Amino acid sequence: MWLDLRSVQERLETEFVGRRAVYLTSTGSTQDAARVEAENEGVSGTVVLAEEQTAGRGRFGRTWVSPGGKNLYLTLILRPPMERLRSLSIVAPLAVAMAIEERTDLSPRIKWPNDVLVNGRKLSGIIVESELSGQSIKFALVGIGVNVNFDVEESSDVADIATSLKRELGKETSREEFLASLLNQFEALYERAARGTEVLKEWRSRLETLGREIQVTFGGHVDTGVAEDVDSDGNLILLRSDGSRIAIEAGEVTLRT
Ligand code: BTN
Repeated sequence: MWLDLRSVQERLETEFVGRRAVYLTSTGSTQDAARVEAENEGVSGTVVLAEEQTAGRGRFGRTWVSPGGKNLYLTLILRPPMERLRSLSIVAPLAVAMAIEERTDLSPRIKWPNDVLVNGRKLSGIIVESELSGQSIKFALVGIGVNVNFDVEESSDVADIATSLKRELGKETSREEFLASLLNQFEALYERAARGTEVLKEWRSRLETLGREIQVTFGGHVDTGVAEDVDSDGNLILLRSDGSRIAIEAGEVTLRT
């Protein structure tokens, strides 16, 4: 069944997020479609959605498996001031986690910085891309993939590491209701994040990574240690075995314990 956009719009409580929607039955990647929109003055809050992606992409050049009609693949176009850019990587996974909490009894966790896990498997992934013009941001593209009614077991590539709401709940979830919750949560958190540290604390409290032995790949090399904490910008503080600490801005974490 195709997404009923009107039913999403009826549930929106937002000022700007999702108020303009571009809906595509099939596209390579919503990140690329949104980039074209953004270059053509697409207003902040525009959501670009696709039923299916033929070249869905994840972080670090990976593929995002994007079968048609089952899941949510969306990119939000935002035009934040530079000082709010970092908050997008915190707000997006937290909005997904809070939408899951609002609509189900599941307890999502976040793998730093922005994978959403349920029962140790990945249910949602996020990629943030931005275009700068000198010292300011032209636009940011927040790409969110959520496995909603995906029969993950049938996809041998990801069956062991991924999950979906359907797998966890044993029944289908309305994509329209979930999407509206996600967009509502996103805007509320995005606004709150500008006003203090509460949103960072909410994100931190769901971080699966803290206190764990990890391996982290960043800037072309690999380091190991304990994920001690995050700082006020969301950087991961890694405590190495020699007692030294480093703050990591972006990287790929593997949990070792
Ligand atoms: C990751 O976990 O590595 C990030 C996955 C991001 C997937 C979403 S789906 C919508 C948007 N379009 C894409 O091609 N990727 C993002």
